[in-house]
Amino acid sequence: MVSRRDRNWSLALLFAAGHRPPSPIGVGLLGYGAIARDHASLIARVGGLRVGAVCDTSGERRELATRELGVPVYGSAHDMYDDPDIGLVLVGTPPAAHAGTVLEALAAGKDVVCEKPFALRVEEVCDLAARIRGEPLATAMLPPGGRDDGSFRPIIVGPQNSDPYPVHGEAIATLGKHFGIALERARCYPYRG
Ligand SMILES: NC(=O)c1ccc[n+]([C@@H]2O[C@H](COP(=O)([O-])OP(=O)(O)OC[C@H]3O[C@@H](n4cnc5c(N)ncnc54)[C@H](O)[C@@H]3O)[C@@H](O)[C@H]2O)c1
Repeated sequence: MVSRRDRNWSLALLFAAGHRPPSPIGVGLLGYGAIARDHASLIARVGGLRVGAVCDTSGERRELATRELGVPVYGSAHDMYDDPDIGLVLVGTPPAAHAGTVLEALAAGKDVVCEKPFALRVEEVCDLAARIRGEPLATAMLPPGGRDDGSFRPIIVGPQNSDPYPVHGEAIATLGKHFGIALERARCYPYRG
């Protein structure tokens, strides 16, 4: 049986290769603040994704999400994780809540995209790395304004800092073309500090 996580990876690669998946992945926005509202408008422009739900601890923000998006809203993250429509969780809470919520969402079987910073303390990052061992982990940062100015160094690494190019080279090249950013291997891998 193919797990949902494997299915989402396949859909992401198919999308990068120019195919449109038959049913878009439902994204659950955890935190509906300034950056999450930006994400919501960007998600609406991506063929393989759609905003499926919002969770915010603030009733005011939940009302705003209902007005702006018309999707189910939750006051508890666990209720949103129980929603089978949600395949991917986008963590847009304030930084102090990032490490804990990333682990909870992964434990609930969701794919996760986390806003920066990933965590606040080195110990939290080490704990996260140890607990998600074996799970694919990718970090991506686009240049400011989404434009390639040559001084920005994209970094692309696979799980455990492995080289993602032999398997995913074609998809990475397609993504680079999509964003208008040169993502050839010599520029992006390995990370040299
Ligand atoms: N605002 C930006 O331009 C920007 C840019 C890049 C990255 N970020 C990052 O995005 C994150 C969020 O920033 P923001 O400016 O959108 O903050 P914000 O304060 O506008 O929004 C955060 C939202 O999360 C909600 N929230 C807090 N704890 C929660 C929890 N446990 N569960 C669910 N909801 C919770 C809050 O009620 C609020 O609505 C930060 O890590 C920040 O560094 C922000």
